[in-house]
Parts: sequence; C-alpha cells; structure tokens
Amino acid sequence: MPDFDYQLVVIGSGPGGYIAAIRAAQLGLKVAIVEKDKTLGGTCLNVGCIPSKALLASTEHLHFARERFAAHGIIAKDLQVDLGAMMKRKSEVVGKLTSGVAYLMKKNKIEVVRGFGKPLDAGTVEVTDENGAKKTLKTQNILLATGSAPIELPFLKFDGKRVISSDQGIALEKVPKSLLVIGAGAIGLELGSVWRRLGAEVTVIEFLPRIAAVGFDAEISKILQRSLEKLGVKFELGTKIESAKVTDKGVELSGSNASGAVTYKADLVLVAVGRKPFAAGLDLEKIGVKMTERGRIATDAHLRTSVPGIWAIGDVIDGPMLAHKAHEEGVAVAELMAGKPGEVNYRIIPGVVYTAPEAASVGLTEEEAKEKNIAVRVGKFSFTANGRAIANDTTEGFVKIIADAKTDRVLGAHIVASNASELIAETVLLMEFGGSAEDLARTVHAHPTMSEAVKEAALGVDGRMLSA
Ligand code: NAI
Repeated sequence: MPDFDYQLVVIGSGPGGYIAAIRAAQLGLKVAIVEKDKTLGGTCLNVGCIPSKALLASTEHLHFARERFAAHGIIAKDLQVDLGAMMKRKSEVVGKLTSGVAYLMKKNKIEVVRGFGKPLDAGTVEVTDENGAKKTLKTQNILLATGSAPIELPFLKFDGKRVISSDQGIALEKVPKSLLVIGAGAIGLELGSVWRRLGAEVTVIEFLPRIAAVGFDAEISKILQRSLEKLGVKFELGTKIESAKVTDKGVELSGSNASGAVTYKADLVLVAVGRKPFAAGLDLEKIGVKMTERGRIATDAHLRTSVPGIWAIGDVIDGPMLAHKAHEEGVAVAELMAGKPGEVNYRIIPGVVYTAPEAASVGLTEEEAKEKNIAVRVGKFSFTANGRAIANDTTEGFVKIIADAKTDRVLGAHIVASNASELIAETVLLMEFGGSAEDLARTVHAHPTMSEAVKEAALGVDGRMLSA
C-alpha cells in the first residue's frame, strides 16, 4: 500500500493550478486541489483578467455608442449608465467561469479541498479551513501555484476605499469624480480607461518616461498614449510619487519629476505598480524551499523547487506574471511529473494590454534587436489602409513585423488594433514554427479581414506592400 492519498496536491486554483490539475488527471494521476477562496479560478477569473475584460467590453460599447453611433446612422438618445447592472453582468461572467472550473474539477475527478494549504514537508500538505479546522493530505507531489498579490507602496497603504488595488478597481459602487492611477502598466491603463469612459477624470502617473514600457515596442507606447489621451486620460510621465496624505474626502500625492516638486489631488488613487509573488504564510524556507533574490520561489528548468517532490509554477516563480504563462507551465509541470517531456517556450509569450485599441506584442522589439546587435528588417502597415478596419470603424493602429535581416525569420510582432489580442496569435504560431516573413506574406488571408494587415506588414519586410 502506498503511504500517500494523492499523487499530486496542487495549492492554488488559478489558471496555473487548475490547468496542472486537469493535465495531471488526464495523465492518470490522483489529484487534489486546495483553494483558500470561496470560488475557484484565482486572481485571473475572480478579480483580474476576466472581470476587467467584462468592464472593458461594457464601457467600450458605451463609448462607441456615444462617439460613433451617429456616424453609423444610429440615433440613441439619452444614453445612460446603470453601473449596478454593469457590475452585475461582470459578476455573472465571473460566476459562469468559476463554476466552469468547478465543473472541470468534477469531470476530471479532481478533489477540491477548501482552505489554506501549506506544505509541512515534501509529502504532506496541511489545510486549514475558514473555521480554523486542520487536516493533512499525504501526497507524492506538491505543486505550489499560489500566484501573486498587488504591491503596496509603503507610504500609501491599501484601505479599499481611498487607496485601492485592482481588486477594488473592478468593483467600485459609484464612478469617482477624479481618479489617480499610479503605474502605466497593463492594470493602470486598462482600469484607467474603464473609469475614464464612465466619466471619471483620470490621471495616470508613471515613473518611467513612457507608458506600457515593459515588453512593448516604443512605437506601441506612443500610439497607445495618443489614443488614451484622445479618450481624455491624462499622463504624468517620468514622475515619482514619494508621499501621500489620505483623508475622508480624498487623497493628495506628492512627488517629483524633471520640472520639480508635484502634487496631485483626487477622490481615489488606484495603485498599479506591479504584483508580488504570494508565498506569505507558507513557511517555505522552513522546509528548505529556496527563494530567489526577488522573493519568488526558485525553480529549475523543469519547474522543480529545491525540495524533491515540490514543484512551482505561475506568478510565484520567475518570469512574466501572465495567466497564459502560468497555464502553459501547468501543462508542462504535470507532464514532467508523469515522466513526459513537458516544456514551455519562454521566448515566445505574447503580451497584451486590453485598452481600446488593444496593444499586443510577441518576441523582440526593435529596440531590443538594436541592443542585441541583431540586424533586422521591419515591415509596418497601418489599419487606415485596411478595408475591413475602414468598414468596421476601427482604423486606429498598425502592425509591425520584425524579421532577421539575414534569414528572414520573424523575431517579433507588435500590433495596435481593436482586436490585437486575437491578431497576434498567427504571428505567435508562425514564430513557434520558426517561420519567415515570406511564409506569412504568402499565406492566404481571408478578405476583407483585419488580419490582412498582418500579411501586408510581412510583405513590407521585403518592401512590397500591396495596399499601401
Ligand atoms: P506592471 O509591472 O505591468 O506596471 C507597473 C508600472 O508602474 C510600471 O510601468 C512601473 O514603472 C510603474 N511604477 C512602479 N512604481 C511606481 C511608482 N512608485 N510611481 C510611479 N510609477 C511606478 O504592473 P501592473 O500593471 O500593476 O500589473 C501587474 C502584473 O499583472 C504585471 O505583471 C502585468 O503583466 C499583469 N497583468 C497583465 C494584464 C494583461 O496581460 N493584460 C492585465 C493586468 C495585469
């Protein structure tokens, strides 16, 4: 008789953890998944990717109705917002998906254990439920997929009312008159645009000289900033916030930029300066799990921690804090546990900012190619010359394809478009197969589609665009 109840206990049911559980079950392992929150799905489904996309969609419809309906010959008088109904729909979207995960657990015969999971040693997980009752699970493998939490600024503690994180930024009960956002990364730009479209005066304060600076091409930052400014979002770049006063009435932030001291006042401040790995309360060092210098769980190329039998994936280990990165690691780690060759291609992970238009990037940016002394050829095509974009009224943006000058292999793709998150997929696949710009340029694309702009940009690498 084996001295364990499970072959795998996963701690954390986000897109990393629940996918790993499913893949492991598919491979015949007996699996349990431990979750401290009421619903499954982690940050992404409950308070991150999914609810923010629901609010982005609702407010984009609103904005389009206000700004563009008349041009389309649609008369909609007295447009009004019912924020309660918008939030209710968002919660229903979340509910559908979190119960979908619960269904998938059942279907794959994965036991869901409610409570806070903590590894006591390589073969034991202690679970403490909300009443404080403890039980232990004996297991062959443990997977740490505990995710991340918003970073707090030391002088600006989250209070959930005046000083909020994305957790509250997706759930405000009324539209603030004014909102300051610290950080022009994905969260700041997405939630900033949601509340701007709902009528708040939004000012985004960013330490770096440009927005969406991490992983995005400089040209993308420029176009995105221009488009968000058109929406009415204000930007204070190259600005560091150093102190804050929070009262019952609002917030006052002070800091400095190249022109000297600055202060900003608003009803609320959303702090979106990044996320930190969530390993609090796990006492990992006690059982010998090594951490990196930056406080993430250290893993080897096979997602193994320093303790044999304990594995880790997702935001809690190194790499971009992205749901799809965690997802692929979930698949790979389950396959590795089952003795199969699981692997994640870290060089080709797309990144998206879901503003309107969206920005999507994969692979090398032009600046990175320059820094690495890689000679490249670049093709660029604007949606103003794309038939479908003109018909759709979505001409903002461009596609940029970066190819190796010698081999023509595509090294990067950068897209700003209403549906950039979808358009990027074909370039990701192309890069996964080591394809060239010529391959892309000779692939038949349906007409009329926005995807023809991707093909045109690929033609542009060789200076032979047909529609511009
Ligand atoms: P982020 O790391 O993407 O951006 C934070 C920004 O805040 C950076 O530009 C940074 O320079 C700036 N910043 C940091 N400290 C500052 C300070 N004191 N004053 C002014 N600016 C400051 O972080 P974000 O947007 O909070 O997102 C957290 C994580 O979640 C990221 O890893 C992000 O990729 C991920 N995420 C991804 C989404 C997506 O894929 N669409 C959506 C939301 C989050």
